[in-house]
Parts: sequence; C-alpha cells; structure tokens
Amino acid sequence: SPTPRTYRIGFSQCTNGDAWRQAMLAGMKKELSFYPQVSFRMKDAHDNSKLQQQHIREFLHEGIDLLIVSANEAEPITPIVEEVFNRGIPVVILDRRTTSKLYTAYVGGNNLEVGHTAGSYASSLLRQHGNVLEVLGAAGASPAVDRHKGFVQGIAGYPGVRLTAQVQGDWKRPSVMRALPAVLRAHPEVDLIFAHNDRMALGAYQVCKQLGLDRRIRVIGVDGLAGPQGGIQFVQDKILTATLLYPPGGEEAIRTAMRILRKQPFEKENILSTMVIDSTNVLTMKLQTEKLASQQQDIQRQQQLLRAQLATYTSQQTILYVLAAALLGA
Ligand code: FRU
Repeated sequence: SPTPRTYRIGFSQCTNGDAWRQAMLAGMKKELSFYPQVSFRMKDAHDNSKLQQQHIREFLHEGIDLLIVSANEAEPITPIVEEVFNRGIPVVILDRRTTSKLYTAYVGGNNLEVGHTAGSYASSLLRQHGNVLEVLGAAGASPAVDRHKGFVQGIAGYPGVRLTAQVQGDWKRPSVMRALPAVLRAHPEVDLIFAHNDRMALGAYQVCKQLGLDRRIRVIGVDGLAGPQGGIQFVQDKILTATLLYPPGGEEAIRTAMRILRKQPFEKENILSTMVIDSTNVLTMKLQTEKLASQQQDIQRQQQLLRAQLATYTSQQTILYVLAAALLGA
C-alpha cells in the first residue's frame, strides 16, 4: 500500500504571548496528535504585522500544503494571504480575519454577534439607562472592528444607553492601566465599561478600584477562558460582572484543515458560538471546564502509558530477535 502522505501545515500566529493563544495552540496540538502524518510549524509574529508578512513569505519558500493564519491587523496581512491562496495553497483563517474573500475556510467566533450580545446585555444591566465606556482591542484587528460595530448595534435599541467615552487599547492590560484614569476623570458619568477582552477588562477593574469607583462601575469583558487567570475566574471573583465566551478554536481549525487536505467536504464558515457568562451560570461553567481539563489529563496519562507499553513491547521484540538469531546461528 502507498505510504500515507505527509502534510505540511504552517501556522502564522499574530502572537503567542497570552493564555488565550496558548489555549488555542494546546487545542491544535491535541487534535494534531490524531494525525501523526502531519508536520506542523508555528511562527509567532509578536503582534508585529511586518514580521507576520515575512513569516508567511517564509512559509511559501519553505513549502507548505496549507496555511492557518490569525492576522494581527487585517489590511497589511491581506495581500500576502491572497498570494498564498492564489498559488493554490488552501488558507484557513483563524479568529482574526483579513479584508479579503480569498480564503478557503474561516474558524472562529462571530465578533459582530459578540459585540451585539455585549451591548444588549449591558443595556439590560443598566435597566436601559446609563453611560458606557468602551475599551477597544488593537486598531485594525478584525475582532476589534466587529466587536465595536456589534456593540453599537446592540445598544442602538436603547436610547437611554449612551456610548460616552472610548479608550484605544492593544489587547493588553498595561495600556489600559495607563490610559484609563484620565478618561475616567474626564467622564465621571460612566456607569459601565465594555472591554474587548478580559485582560483589558481586568486592567479597567483595577483602575476603577484605584479610583474608588469599583462599586459604582461595572465591567464586562470577552474571552471567558478557564483557569486561575481566565475570565471565568474573574466573574466568579466578582471582578467582572460578565464575560462573553469567545472560544480559541484550535481543535476546530485543525479538524477543518484536515478535511480540506484530505479532500473531504467542509464548511467555509465555521462559527464558534458565544454566550454570556455571569453570576447566574459561572459556577456551572467553572465545573464544566474543570471536568474537561481533568478528562484531558486522563487522556494524556493514557497516551503516556500506551507509549511506555509500546516501548517495552519493542524492546522485548528486539530481545526475541536477538535470541532467535543466536539460536539459528548456533
Ligand atoms: C488574544 C486575544 C483575545 C481576543 C483575541 C482577538 O491574543 O487578544 O484576548 O479575544 O485575541 O483576536
């Protein structure tokens, strides 16, 4: 029978410097463990679009059968991704989009919906009256653009809810810690902060706390990651009033990539669903994610056991061969 084909997947990641991206990579590796015939390489662009362009060009030179890409900023990454696609190499966009329709499949959340859900949830929290400050993700990244658009649509049905201030963030906590105090002093009317991710939401909470505003201003984030530094824990600790679940989708990205490579039917748009996590369901979410994590550990332990048994078996076989050869030779 013909030897199974080796597939080369290149993953151009905008950054690998946070827990959400690391959960994405862990999900990819978990799914990849079912496909030993795949060679997988990730290049980490450290939030730098120029570097990301260069990485994708490198992948083209080195040779890949499929590209997975999370675009740091939509515009600058678009031409090189279009080039990959136009050369007949399938492209899976993961989470952060380009501005182009030239890609094979998308895997990730619907950020318009994330923003919209946050907007209507915020409005009902405020009982349809109040002032909101928005902390945006990095300018030019598609989730930031769409979360803002969706949020504006989400509050549009409530004339008593107004978006009165904005802070331009970069997905990270320190920028918010620096910029927010002055904006809050200039806008004492703010009742609620919507931050485009939980890390910036944590920063917003810490600023509110420093200014003695943490009892008055409620904070909402996005991501809802499990673990001690994740949004689920922040909601449980009442640091955040709510977070919008935004799954990293690593497993789904690899599954879609494999369907494409094996010429099986696949969906072009693979939308991962969102939901509000707040005090009403946070405990359930926490228990569920803990259960998943412990099951995942069990699977890893079983895999280790299997490997160890296989190694013992192989060495026993070798001993048998050596013995047999000695006997035959004798
Ligand atoms: C992680 C992150 C998440 C956010 C996503 C948007 O790098 O900043 O917090 O939801 O990227 O692309």
